[in-house]
Amino acid sequence: MNQRQKEEYLREYSILKSEGKPFFPYAVAKDAAMACVVMICIITLSLVLGVEQGSKVNPTTTTYVPRPDWYFFFLFELLRVIKPPSLVGLATVGIPTLGMILLFTLPFFDRGPERRPERRPIATATFVFVAIAMALLTYDGATVGTPTALNINLPTSVAQQGTAAVAKFELGREAVAQNGCEDCHDIAGNGNSGPGPELTYIGSRLPANAIGRTLANPTAPMPSFKNLPANKFDAIEYFLSQLK
Ligand code: HEC
Repeated sequence: MNQRQKEEYLREYSILKSEGKPFFPYAVAKDAAMACVVMICIITLSLVLGVEQGSKVNPTTTTYVPRPDWYFFFLFELLRVIKPPSLVGLATVGIPTLGMILLFTLPFFDRGPERRPERRPIATATFVFVAIAMALLTYDGATVGTPTALNINLPTSVAQQGTAAVAKFELGREAVAQNGCEDCHDIAGNGNSGPGPELTYIGSRLPANAIGRTLANPTAPMPSFKNLPANKFDAIEYFLSQLK
């Protein structure tokens, strides 16, 4: 702030101060009234609508998909996209805390007198960036599938083979997710990178029948899947053979 801006500010401030009303009781009374309105709204809503408690807890469920409340979707998605286990601390605590600290210290390093958004390009750009990033993360977090669902696009070669092939591919993708293959295999960025080999391009390495042989008679620690229903077994074999 230069000398001229400072004087201008002090002049404006003294005018406002002589014209304005004191904080107590005027502003306090207004705030108190608004606080009462908000409280009455909350009490009325809770009496009329009640709290949604969801279904009863079932400790034996294996299909429950844990999800945070919507306003935490961006944090949830941040944790989901940052995959390496060593970076989990960064995603859960590091980045949000850093953001909070920066926000908290903002008034100390941004000391310019300007208040119009168009005259504060850095602040405005930062706000727009953060708002867009949070909106996108919230959207992605809200629309992700189950934790084990495979995020793999339909290859065009399969699409060209017709609807039966597409259905088989999709059944296979679902069966792979349901049978925990991702616990041991990385498939196009889904799942863990070991102890099993990456399967992203398994179709160009092994023909379908060889994949089937591995599924039925694997080497430990991979479990055998020969007792799966035949349609699922075939679908998994087909699905993997199309990953090229
Ligand atoms: C407990 C961990 C584990 C699970 C679960 C698992 N695998 Fe494996 N898989 C392995 C390991 C380890 C190997 C390497 C074994 C070997 O080379 O003989 C392997 C090898 C394979 C191979 C051969 C890869 C190659 O390059 O030769 C295929 C295909 C395969 N797995 C598919 C699957 C599918 C499909 C599922 C789920 C239905 C699955 N695996 C579940 C651990 C696992």
